[in-house]
Amino acid sequence: MSQGSSPPLRIALAGLGTVGAGVVRLLAANAELITARAGRRLEVVAVSARDRNRDRGVDLSGFAWEDDMVAMAGREDVDIVVELVGGSDGPALNLARSALAAGKGLVTANKAMIAHHGLTLAEAAAKSGAALKFEAAVAGGIPVVKGLREGTSANRVARIYGILNGTCNYILSKMEESGADFAETLAEAQALGYAEADPGFDIKGVDAAHKLAILAAIGFGAKIDFAAVHCEGISAIRAADIAQADALGYVIRLIGIADTEEGATGKQPRLLQRVRPCLVPKHHPLAHVSGPTNAVVAEGDFVGRLLFQGAGAGDGPTASAVVADLIDIARGDVSPPFSVPVDRLVQMAPADPGDRTGRTYLRLTVADRPGVLAEIATATRDAGVSIESLIQKGRPEEGGEVLVALVTHEGPQRCVDDAVALLDGSDSLTAPPLVMPILKA
Ligand code: NDP
Ligand code: HSE
Repeated sequence: MSQGSSPPLRIALAGLGTVGAGVVRLLAANAELITARAGRRLEVVAVSARDRNRDRGVDLSGFAWEDDMVAMAGREDVDIVVELVGGSDGPALNLARSALAAGKGLVTANKAMIAHHGLTLAEAAAKSGAALKFEAAVAGGIPVVKGLREGTSANRVARIYGILNGTCNYILSKMEESGADFAETLAEAQALGYAEADPGFDIKGVDAAHKLAILAAIGFGAKIDFAAVHCEGISAIRAADIAQADALGYVIRLIGIADTEEGATGKQPRLLQRVRPCLVPKHHPLAHVSGPTNAVVAEGDFVGRLLFQGAGAGDGPTASAVVADLIDIARGDVSPPFSVPVDRLVQMAPADPGDRTGRTYLRLTVADRPGVLAEIATATRDAGVSIESLIQKGRPEEGGEVLVALVTHEGPQRCVDDAVALLDGSDSLTAPPLVMPILKA
């Protein structure tokens, strides 16, 4: 059939916030080239959100308004549902399930929903033969889902890691540039539309963990296992840590890392998934990623190291990824969302992070009094931690609080955790210790 006579792909759009309005804007602005690339027109038929009367800065007059998203998905004149509401469960999940059960394709930017329910949604899609796509759910505008699903599909992937949360990266790089205050910078990230509806998801590392679980499932052909992601956020990081890292030749970035290690004979490899603030050597490509930019490194056995980098949040980049998925569906792509058919995804047991070796930064805030350093040295000695360097900073007033920063030699993570546990409850500590791995180059 020629492009002119192909029927349009008829879209129901749920959610008209930052991303939803961006999709409407993009479809209008680039309508002609999108039609040429999709081979048919992408036509929004109906839209839904909570507040019908809100001015969203886009023209919605040509679309039917539906208060009930599920009813909208059930309309006979709808082929594809785009879910841009958010939330792992509730209305978004109801909508996704009902769309896929009805055999309608689903495009979503909702990493929380995919991280929690991606497997069952992929099963529902396979059952009804519908497409399920979520490029925008990971790293905004960067085509990393497609890159891993298609570009590296001939490779064994050894490791996937990167900067997966624009809000945290924005905060950390602003604090680094100008010594800006954490709360003030978070408010800026919210105003710019980068943060989640609940910004706790960003700063506690949960949003990055959602994305990491999705990438790991695709890269390793594994059943998605969000519950197994070890996750820490950035709220304990102080300006003093950033200054200390700088003096040592590092920057601080929130990094998600997924890799595998051999299991027992005859068993599947084990999968380790971690999101943690890390010290990144200044010469590492990820050290130069600032603002809301995201970057993902994937290491394949034949392709080597790939770096995907670009805008990780915001209306335009995220809409770009949503519409790219729609174009793929318009072209007839119903390939498996997690790189292999859902019934072939393997169950990978979680690996123990304590077994991993590396160098670690450990910051302790302690009372400035005799014997405190000896106490720290005793804990590290008893836990088997070898110290590469130690810096003590500040003595604002006699007997006040001082900051002690340690960098360890390469050693098992378990030993560092043991040292921290030995110091736990000590009245020499004035705040909980901060432990950050140093990213291997
Ligand atoms: P917003 O909060 O800006 O928009 C959410 C939209 O969903 C609003 O239009 C809202 O309606 C509507 N909505 C919320 N709850 C309901 C409900 N119960 N019933 C009907 N409509 C509802 O979110 P974003 O656009 O920022 O994010 C949308 C999705 O995209 C989320 O899953 C998010 O994680 C993801 N995402 C966001 C990125 C970003 O940069 N913002 C980047 C990548 C992914 P109303 O406007 O009437 O209140
Ligand atoms: N809140 C997310 C972030 C949006 O800051 O990265 C993009 O997924």
